[in-house]
Amino acid sequence: MTDSKRIVLSSDHAAIALRQTIAKHIAAQGWDVVDIGPTTPESTHYPKHGEAAAQRVASGDFRFGIILCGTGQGIMMAANKVKDVRCGVCSDTFSARMIRQHNDANMLSLGARVTGEDLALEIVDAFLSAEFEGGRHGTRVDMIKALER
Ligand code: RB5
Repeated sequence: MTDSKRIVLSSDHAAIALRQTIAKHIAAQGWDVVDIGPTTPESTHYPKHGEAAAQRVASGDFRFGIILCGTGQGIMMAANKVKDVRCGVCSDTFSARMIRQHNDANMLSLGARVTGEDLALEIVDAFLSAEFEGGRHGTRVDMIKALER
């Protein structure tokens, strides 16, 4: 996994505006943001957008991925099918911090129809500023990884 400040964003049609707001917010913090869209509002299929971001994170080219759909749930389910991806849906800052500290999540999913813009930005900040604690949590993350083999 890369230690760089590269981060990839994607969503389906339900979350384009929030995704673009998040992209600007984290770029202003010095993150190298690659937003892989989509940019037009036609209805699209969240699994392909979740997979596209997840493959980039799994490849090691990106430190983190942030993905969004209406609920955050479907796109998270798709992303988690990609080996080496650990993605959680968050609608609160505590969970966003904990999925980094305890689960070593490398992707965050948000629901644009669930979470308002201001809270979503706080959730993103909580996720990006927290560090994995390792130790007993490392043992448990290794158990998750073992399920992929
Ligand atoms: C699209 O209508 C909606 O189903 C999608 O954005 C997401 O909420 C699925 O989990």
